[in-house]
Amino acid sequence: MNLKRSDFPDGFLFGAATSSYQIEGHAFGGAGRTHWDDFAATPGNVVRAEDGARACDHFHRMDEDLDLLKAGNFDVYRFSTSWARVLPEGRGAVNAAGLDFYDRLVDGLLARGIKPAATLYHWELPSPLADLGGWRNRDIAGWFADFTEVLMRRIGDRVWSVAPINEPWCVGWLSHFMGLHAPGLRDIRATARAMHHVLLAHGRAIQVMRGLGMTNLGAVCNFEWSAPADDSPEAARVAELYDGIYNRWFISALFKGAYPDTVLEGLGPHMPDGWQDDFATIGEKLDWFGLNYYTRKLIGPAPAPWPALQEVEGPLPKTQVGWEIYPEGLYQFLARTRAEYTGDLPLYVTENGMANADAIVGGAVRDDARIDYLNAHLAQVRRAIAEGVPVKGYYCWSLMDNYEWSLGYDKRFGLVHVDFDTLQRTPKASYHALARALSR
Ligand code: FCB
Repeated sequence: MNLKRSDFPDGFLFGAATSSYQIEGHAFGGAGRTHWDDFAATPGNVVRAEDGARACDHFHRMDEDLDLLKAGNFDVYRFSTSWARVLPEGRGAVNAAGLDFYDRLVDGLLARGIKPAATLYHWELPSPLADLGGWRNRDIAGWFADFTEVLMRRIGDRVWSVAPINEPWCVGWLSHFMGLHAPGLRDIRATARAMHHVLLAHGRAIQVMRGLGMTNLGAVCNFEWSAPADDSPEAARVAELYDGIYNRWFISALFKGAYPDTVLEGLGPHMPDGWQDDFATIGEKLDWFGLNYYTRKLIGPAPAPWPALQEVEGPLPKTQVGWEIYPEGLYQFLARTRAEYTGDLPLYVTENGMANADAIVGGAVRDDARIDYLNAHLAQVRRAIAEGVPVKGYYCWSLMDNYEWSLGYDKRFGLVHVDFDTLQRTPKASYHALARALSR
């Protein structure tokens, strides 16, 4: 790394992130079935129909993984909690082993001097709730509030921070409009409802946690820089629409109490009754805001119904998943978020990283491309800080290779290599480089 801890302000936090379904092994410990199990079992949805039944077997290897965080000199660990592990039916009976697992995780982090940063929902909806319409059903806000209460009554006294929902765009648009994540719908009415209910559920969870006296509560959204594919007015218009759908819908609701007009032109007719009355709940005061950032997209018009746009392949170097590497976008989003939405609120980069075709050669993994990616993006974080943007921390995605959703197990985002046959962990060159950069 060409940066070190002392290049950042005192108290700046460095972390690594994971999520429950992607690492734990959902077959273990009494977790209930989730819509990701159902999605993966349906041919054509996931590469080789892989699922999270075993994943990294973090369920049985938690201590080893927490030791990796400690030895990597990380200050904070962003993990998520599986709704179906805690409440196998989504509501009602509690799985004691599930609560015990997260209790041990939090205590294991604290014992190692690492701050626990929890995300309540990173996409594995309990199947019985999907049966009831999942994110299309307004009642999900209440179900989610109840789950929040059950879990936080157990670990809420010791977690350092909490965000209710990871990446509402993925919960809404990617899963209900594009059909690329569970439940795999391609339906505009379902999309409009999911894009609203996910925010309502966020707000209800914040209310529950405030009621329990909790602090340091935030939200995490994902951002993709949207650039016109050419210099035509049509491309400019659809790039702005893409920006509205992807980048502005959720953050406008959270911080301005409104949805972007350009997006309502398409979704408005499909919104659930009374949506205008929910912004007081959606906009509950937050203590921080998190941005997940990976790439940009070139957007051009498409001969199709609204939104009548398409992604166009760009010229920049790409990662293993075909995403262009565009570090400037991270700076642009940090600056814009502060200027237009969050003001003095502390910001965190809650995910950033790259997939790389990593392999163990002679016992080592030389992922120099990842070191370059991290250097370039951290430089953009420093640029934002130098201009007064209150960025307080940065989390790498991900601590270890894991289940990359519909792309299965061979897209490797980890700082630590995982052999998915033996489950052996091998820290990559990027892990060692970061550990050195972060040593005190
Ligand atoms: C983010 C997700 C995370 C992982 C990375 C690559 O959108 O939050 O689970 O899939 O992308």
